[in-house]
Amino acid sequence: MMVLGVESSCDECAAAVVEDGRRILSNVVATQEELHRPYYGVVPEIASRRHIETIQPVVELALKQAGLEAGGVDGLAVTCRPGLIGSLLVGLSFVKGMALALDKPLVGVDHVLAHLYAPHLEVDIRYPYLGLLVSGGHTLIARVESFDRIQVLGTTIDDACGEAFDKVAKFYDLGFPGGVAIDRLAQKGDDRAFRFPWPSLHKGDHPFDVSYSGLKTAVVNQLEQFRDPNRPATPENIAASFQKAAVDILVDRLLKAARHTGLDTVVAGGGVAANSYLRRRLAEERGLRVIFPSLKLCTDNAAMVAGLGYHLLSSGRRDGLELTAEARVPGLRRAYP
Ligand code: KG4
Ligand code: ZN
Repeated sequence: MMVLGVESSCDECAAAVVEDGRRILSNVVATQEELHRPYYGVVPEIASRRHIETIQPVVELALKQAGLEAGGVDGLAVTCRPGLIGSLLVGLSFVKGMALALDKPLVGVDHVLAHLYAPHLEVDIRYPYLGLLVSGGHTLIARVESFDRIQVLGTTIDDACGEAFDKVAKFYDLGFPGGVAIDRLAQKGDDRAFRFPWPSLHKGDHPFDVSYSGLKTAVVNQLEQFRDPNRPATPENIAASFQKAAVDILVDRLLKAARHTGLDTVVAGGGVAANSYLRRRLAEERGLRVIFPSLKLCTDNAAMVAGLGYHLLSSGRRDGLELTAEARVPGLRRAYP
């Protein structure tokens, strides 16, 4: 079964063809990085306008690279939530048009679940396992029961992990996307130059939750307070020390969740899963089997949407033309979706 997937939840306009949820025949991503770089962040209005321009050529290229005519596709999958509403609507409307014109089955795909599905395109992984999803919009530690059911164990109580990377990079003018720039600079930095505070848990906070607002304030407003007097405040040292603090807290919560659930397989996904320190740090954890997707499948892409779409369609799920986009998914804590 050939599924065409389309992803437009943020600033990547992507289309892919995947066979039987596993074999990637094409995976096209048109990034808008250059467009948003002057603003150090994704500008929703600009993103949706660019999606309108790129969606058709991106889909055409994905079909061409897969060696298919549009009519050769057996099903259509499109990200419908969560994300920037204007951007989501572009992909959704386009794919609805295709479904109508081609008379093919359509299914809406959740972006969070699609990220968690991404490594399944490369490795055989048995459920259940512990999922770690860290991106610009999400920070989630979850017990993943199946391709469409997860139980969220921990999340962020304020900023998403990637958002913290992006904000620190913006403040110190380190580059865009912030996570990539910090990762690169940190490789030449000393992570002991600053000893940033560990977020303290408050009453009512969940033991697997993380928080980034305190760390961000420390890095942005109180830098000198946390500096080792013998080490300089270079951009490299700031990047390395911040990155260590941001990742160590995640690893701490993940290890606690592993002990709590007894699950010893961790599957990571999302843009921050491309971080080289996070990858190194988790690879060192004895007793944990950690699976990272390749870099191209960590960040936003449509192969993960087509892959998950195949399983949804195979299990009989269909959406009609009334399918709508949702910016947020409520009730993230208890059960998802
Ligand atoms: O999954 P993604 O492409 O889009 C969202 O769904 O958010 O993730 C983008 C996020 C951005 O915050 C970006 O700064 C971060 O992932 N990121 C990284 C790295 N590469 C991308 N963060 C840390 N280290 C990286 N190497
Ligand atoms: Zn994403």
